Amino acid sequence: MKGVILAGGLGKRLYPLTKITNKHLLPIYNKPMIYYPIEALIDAGIEDIMIVTGGNFAGDFLQLLGNGREFGLKDLHYTYQEGEGGIADALSLAEHFVEEDRCIVILGDNIFEKSIRSYVERYKRQKDGAKIIIKEVPDPQRFGVPVIQGDKIVAIEEKPKQPKSPYSVTGIYMYDRQIWEIIHTLVPSQRNELEITDVNNAYIGKNMLTYDILDGWWTDAGTFESLVHAQQLVAQKDHASRLKNQ
Ligand code: DAU
Repeated sequence: MKGVILAGGLGKRLYPLTKITNKHLLPIYNKPMIYYPIEALIDAGIEDIMIVTGGNFAGDFLQLLGNGREFGLKDLHYTYQEGEGGIADALSLAEHFVEEDRCIVILGDNIFEKSIRSYVERYKRQKDGAKIIIKEVPDPQRFGVPVIQGDKIVAIEEKPKQPKSPYSVTGIYMYDRQIWEIIHTLVPSQRNELEITDVNNAYIGKNMLTYDILDGWWTDAGTFESLVHAQQLVAQKDHASRLKNQ
């Protein structure tokens, strides 16, 4: 199973912070943002990792992360997304890295309180198709929102004005090799991006999308509000674990 971290895009919602660096290199409490998805993958047993980055500061990733030795990795793979054609566009650049394998994709600005290992293990036992992880949130209209009937997700709506469930699709996606032919059929959305939600809807159309409900908190960090929120959550977690270990 390969891991792909998507850290492209231009981070415009965080301007002017992102005028002089890439969003994923900004600090979240005591570490750069990109450390969190790397550590989440490694903790889930994924050590073959590609980082998709972009923008004007891509070289800084190499300076910060090098070959990944600090994380105990043998090496790290990098690729570069021109422009910001969307999450599915960024993922398409990893096709030659993932090849015939399956992949766990994680958005570079997503932070999870707890280990994602159990979801990855469950996906490994899934014969084929895809898996997403959803979480109940107070503001689902900011995210991809699953439409749930019974215990099935029948559609996902991207940033709906009137969400049909209180859940959000988090930024961890697990795909089999059908992902590549699906990406090739996508057309740009209204915001001119290849949407990961369209990929997931294609798997739903094939009746091949499973989901788990996330245990523990989760946040993105792509807006000023969510960046501060992420920093507070990580700081609280760090303080709590230090008190426990005293
Ligand atoms: O955080 C979870 C949400 O992420 C999902 O619920 C949504 O369905 C999904 O569309 C996405 O929503 P956002 O609009 O908030 O995603 P954003 O544009 O902030 O991109 C998230 C990460 O994806 C970003 O940190 C880097 C990567 N990305 C994004 C774009 C647009 C790329 O690598 N390349 C890109 O072109």
